Amino acid sequence: MKPAEQEATAAKEEYMVGPVDDVPERDGLLVDVAGETEVGIFKVDGTLYAYENRCVHQGGPVCAGVLLGKTEQHLDAGGRVLSEDLDDSRLRLVCPWHGWEYDITTGRVAHDARYRLRPVELTVRDGYLYVVV
Ligand code: FES
Repeated sequence: MKPAEQEATAAKEEYMVGPVDDVPERDGLLVDVAGETEVGIFKVDGTLYAYENRCVHQGGPVCAGVLLGKTEQHLDAGGRVLSEDLDDSRLRLVCPWHGWEYDITTGRVAHDARYRLRPVELTVRDGYLYVVV
């Protein structure tokens, strides 16, 4: 059986990983799930997002990175940067190893949307976070 097939057939389980109030707004919380998987849980404008802590570039601990607004550059005809704006309404998760950026709402790589972080199923019940891995 190929590794991908093994992964597809592996049974998933639900784990309670802590109180929902532990996730700060516009920030994240890194949790260890059963000593096997690390999951980053982020809250932006009250919405929660969860991703496996593995960068698609070289496997770095992406969820230990920071959330930053999207920078937009204004260029002249020659391509020189005239000014930059920071758009805080569109947060990106920046991997601490080499700086790849991900749209926090989709997990997609900012410079190549074909690639994305692996989303983790997340639910909230009675004030607690549950993930399925
Ligand atoms: S491992 Fe994340 S940017 Fe390289």
